[in-house]
Amino acid sequence: MSEDSRRADKIPVVQMLVVGLIASAIGIAAGLAIEWFPEQASTQAGPIDHLYDVLIWTSVPIFVLVTMVVLFSVIKFRMRPGEENLDGPPIHGNTKLEVIWTAIPAIILVVLCAYAWIVLVDIEEAQAGEMRVNVVGQQFAWTYEYPQSDGKPIKSNQLYLPNDRPVRFYVKALDVIHDFWVPAFRMKVDAVPGIETRYRITPNRLGTYPVVCAELCGLGHSVMRSTARVVTPADFNTWIAEQKAPAQAAGGGAGAEVDGKTLFTDGNGTATACSACHTLADAGTSSETGPDLDEALAGKDAAYIEEAIVAPDKEITPGFQAGIMPKNYGDTLSAEELDALVKYLGDVAGK
Ligand code: CUA
Repeated sequence: MSEDSRRADKIPVVQMLVVGLIASAIGIAAGLAIEWFPEQASTQAGPIDHLYDVLIWTSVPIFVLVTMVVLFSVIKFRMRPGEENLDGPPIHGNTKLEVIWTAIPAIILVVLCAYAWIVLVDIEEAQAGEMRVNVVGQQFAWTYEYPQSDGKPIKSNQLYLPNDRPVRFYVKALDVIHDFWVPAFRMKVDAVPGIETRYRITPNRLGTYPVVCAELCGLGHSVMRSTARVVTPADFNTWIAEQKAPAQAAGGGAGAEVDGKTLFTDGNGTATACSACHTLADAGTSSETGPDLDEALAGKDAAYIEEAIVAPDKEITPGFQAGIMPKNYGDTLSAEELDALVKYLGDVAGK
């Protein structure tokens, strides 16, 4: 058999088609069987997951086709012993084939883009009765603000949302670029210093879901997390009322007793809890993101402890890095809260 006649062997189209169909079926089944996303907790989640399934249906067969042509060509047209110095037959191209393989992917892309655009426009439509929540990203914590009719927004480091109520997030960043993402809601957007970005969701499933930062923003990026709680409208109103109550008490001059241990374990609604990052035996916490306070603060005086809270980068515990602990505790804690926290840590650290 001459070189030319062997090269001109008929391409086993039928066999390749059968293998390709089987491989595509397996690929699509696997793609649809894998749980790519967490539970759906917003009305936006369904259409987005469906869009993703459509992309699997279209992209798996294309991937299989391309892979098969490549594998076939590598085997069929490989160099055989004795051919090392041959140039191979000259190729003149094939205009018809090139037009086809350019036009078909272009049409598929345009159709998929149009579909994705329609889905996005649809799920981002303005809803009646929308609630506004301002989201502020800062190394390395999220803060949520609920504007109130009295002009004093409620601030929280946990995201509370009433079930079935449309919400629109207005997202800002104070330092570097972050990205506000609740995977269970699916939508996400960058938080960019100097501009305000937005998106809408309607939570539709009661529960607790992680909030994460989806933009590498520094050493503490991985701990820039909080919690989204979707609660009943009644529970939400109760929570709002609770958030207002302490502020009114303080305004009246008769603030409730401030408890340092509670501040340490729970934060104060604006300041992130110390327990999220620090080990302290008395509070029963064991996170190792920041220094173990039983070691770092043992035997230290109040001035030292206060500085460690409000100016954390002035002195860094060996083995840890500057810039991870939020630098805004001087703002997010009131003077009484700071005093209570310093006193508590002085009393129990290392004991
Ligand atoms: Cu903020 Cu990553």
